[in-house]
Amino acid sequence: MAQEQAGFAVIGLGIWGEAHLQAYTTTPGCRLVGVCDLSADLARRRAEEYGAPFSTSHCEELLARPEVEAVSIATPDFAHFELVRAALAAGKHVLVEKPMTTRLSESEELAASAEQAGVLLMVDFHNRWNPAFVEARTAITEGEIGEVQTLSLLLNDTLEVPTQMLSWAGRSSVGWFLGAHIADLARWLTGQEVRRVYALARSRTLQARGLDTPDFFQTLLELDGGAVAHLENCWIMSESQPNLFDLKAEIFGSDGSLYIDMGTHRMLQKYTPAGAVYPDLAVRPMIHGRPQGFGLESIRHFARCVLGAEQPLVTVRDGVENVRVVEAMHRSAELGQPVELESKTTEHE
Ligand SMILES: NC(=O)c1ccc[n+]([C@@H]2O[C@H](COP(=O)([O-])OP(=O)(O)OC[C@H]3O[C@@H](n4cnc5c(N)ncnc54)[C@H](O)[C@@H]3O)[C@@H](O)[C@H]2O)c1
Repeated sequence: MAQEQAGFAVIGLGIWGEAHLQAYTTTPGCRLVGVCDLSADLARRRAEEYGAPFSTSHCEELLARPEVEAVSIATPDFAHFELVRAALAAGKHVLVEKPMTTRLSESEELAASAEQAGVLLMVDFHNRWNPAFVEARTAITEGEIGEVQTLSLLLNDTLEVPTQMLSWAGRSSVGWFLGAHIADLARWLTGQEVRRVYALARSRTLQARGLDTPDFFQTLLELDGGAVAHLENCWIMSESQPNLFDLKAEIFGSDGSLYIDMGTHRMLQKYTPAGAVYPDLAVRPMIHGRPQGFGLESIRHFARCVLGAEQPLVTVRDGVENVRVVEAMHRSAELGQPVELESKTTEHE
């Protein structure tokens, strides 16, 4: 049964944790009841800015509070597992940033815990709310392009992301940080499961800058319905590019093709003494002082699921299968050969 209000909290208050704060403070039925970050100072500042009545640097203090019914976890990729586990053990609904975890065994453990606790566990695959991909999926499911034969998905960042924006890039990878998004899109767009993964990665440019993490992954996925996907992720695009990220897709079906360009759309071009910028108008734009965009829509959807008004569009199994694929990308790149996947599921839940 739908409830009118619920208490939400956010753990991890950096760049993307702020998107969760923006969503919970602008979505009907949401009360932001607490925030937590390892940095007590950041937690205090965010609490003040977003009107949270409680802030802490100790997650157990936050999770012990009964008014916290649901929690977002937006800590670095490698710091999801312990926090999600603790939140589920405390009986909270959980929205975790992608990837769910960086180990398959961990994500399987979390899926079992969520089921046992009878709470929601959703991974924030916000590209499922990206208007271009929503339209593409509708075109596919309505048969407009026939049977999907092959697709190419590209999501890249400039060097600024691993070298300046993320302090923890060397403890993650472009595979986990960006590959998770498009590996999910490959499953979601085709409705097929990944059966075989062949990935190549190289570490040169970032290594030369002291970061022990691959520059890129080039990956081929074989899906169980016969489709083949190519995924490209790199963290080494030139910093002189006017956009921090590039996101493109080419999808070829038996009766038609789809092309998506979210990186160089040039909807707005700004040329000033500071340089050329094509500002983001889709992920997190401010519209008349209100935060909007598909980056927040996925979080608002989670909130409505907690309130009982919607059913999750991302299942726990989607989160687990995603980790299975991205983990296999890393294994394949290390081995230099394809990796077969044995999924426990045969279809989407
Ligand atoms: N930056 C982006 O554009 C972006 C977009 C979408 C999703 N994400 C995902 O969001 C997550 C966070 O990324 P970010 O860019 O916001 O990183 P960030 O470094 O800006 O912020 C992470 C925050 O988590 C805090 N933290 C770390 N360990 C903690 C712990 N144990 N308990 C409490 N707080 C802890 C850090 O102090 C920091 O403030 C990652 O999983 C990332 O993949 C990032």
